[in-house]
Amino acid sequence: MKTQSQDFAELKVDGKVIRLPIVVGTEGERALDITGLRRQSGLVTLDPGFANTASCTSQITYVDGEHGILRYRGIPIEELVKKAMFVDVAYLLVHGQLPNASERRSFSEQLNLSSLLHEDMRHFFDHMPQGAHPMHILSTMINAMTAFYPNVDIKSMADNIDESCARAISIVRTMAAFAYKKSIGEPVVYPRHDLSYCANFLNMMFDSPVKPYRIEPEAVRMLNLLFIIHADHEQNCSTSTVRVVGSAQVNLYATISAGISALSGPLHGGANQAVMEMLRTIQADGDVMKFIRMAKDKDNPFRLMGFGHRVYKTYDPRAEIVRRECDAFLSKLHYRDPLLDVAREVEAAALKDEYFIERHLYPNVDFYTGIIYRAMGIPENMFTVMFALARLPGWVAHWREMIGDDTKLVRPRQIYTGCPLCGMDTDLSVNRTLVI
Ligand code: SDX
Repeated sequence: MKTQSQDFAELKVDGKVIRLPIVVGTEGERALDITGLRRQSGLVTLDPGFANTASCTSQITYVDGEHGILRYRGIPIEELVKKAMFVDVAYLLVHGQLPNASERRSFSEQLNLSSLLHEDMRHFFDHMPQGAHPMHILSTMINAMTAFYPNVDIKSMADNIDESCARAISIVRTMAAFAYKKSIGEPVVYPRHDLSYCANFLNMMFDSPVKPYRIEPEAVRMLNLLFIIHADHEQNCSTSTVRVVGSAQVNLYATISAGISALSGPLHGGANQAVMEMLRTIQADGDVMKFIRMAKDKDNPFRLMGFGHRVYKTYDPRAEIVRRECDAFLSKLHYRDPLLDVAREVEAAALKDEYFIERHLYPNVDFYTGIIYRAMGIPENMFTVMFALARLPGWVAHWREMIGDDTKLVRPRQIYTGCPLCGMDTDLSVNRTLVI
């Protein structure tokens, strides 16, 4: 979407003054539009990790990192977690407004009809190695959807976005539960038409022919809340990956597969699993301050997982919501987790330490979520899968927005710092014996 500019910045290069438009976003964010920079000056910009670069304009999500604000299509997440279900928020992100009653019915029906995995795909699980990480299984299976489902050209998918979105969100949920059942050697549990999105997932995860699962309403409420707060987060690493891959006119499933791979990294979505490993290590050692010191030590690769954020320079509003829910949820489930006490001790120690204060390092969305997943009985190697399931509507929304815009193929420049022009120091043509 094009933005209008009334204001300009002037850049003096080699004695020449260049005027670059300043564009302003809905919430007053300002950006230097450098689309004309190279043509006017021969210069490009250098910004490793794009920490200072807006890759696109978007109408989906607004994050204010200084004030800890997160809104989906203008609605604060604090309101959505109180009044909406995850399915409503998925519709909101993709369509731009919450569904009315008939839109909700039709979307739910599509989610239900799309929840079955192609039976030939189910057999993929039989050939996955026992120890395969569920994120890698998920990324593989989603890519395979391109072969199993028709009309995956991007125009058909964009024109039938509800069907594409429902299939991506619903089948992936089934795949995730099947991957878990495969990992514990139990028979898969099929989705049911009479259960809500989150209740269906918990049932597919924990029901068994010999031990029926009693669906706990409080767990369903909490899963809706966790999925809502993870549903989108503007141009994070995995969403940017979806936009980069999608910009080459790649179908939705293949771009989501790339997004899942990006999300699996420990610096991104994999952090929720890394937090639990860290809390257990600290619990076993008993000395919280030792790990605070390690996190501050430049010569030590240890980082406080679940702390810090590229955008939030204050408490992540999602972490705030989860932190508040932790105690109440665990007590409703009559569940006590000593790692929660460790987490609170780590947070208290870090938040009063100059190193963390100076760098604006606060708990992010991953710091407390693992405690809640553990209380639900979700195994740790499935924590990042939970993040991926929740992020699917965000990825679909960004893919759709990008395909809809006059998106250019993403192809950044670079600054070459390798060796200057040189000859070959060995003439391979002379001593090349015929090598079969
Ligand atoms: C997610 O972008 C998103 O929106 C992502 C996400 C989403 O919803 O999609 O919010 C989800 O990915 C949350 C982040 C999960 N990752 C972690 O919890 C891993 C631990 N955190 C860090 O690795 C780090 O904070 C990042 C990667 C999240 C952000 O790092 P940046 O923005 O690249 O900042 P940086 O690495 O340049 O750090 C700035 C300073 C450095 O110190 P100095 O060189 O200035 O002395 O802060 C320090 C860093 O060493 N620092 C940390 C730290 N995070 C940053 N020091 C100790 N522990 C940490 N966790």
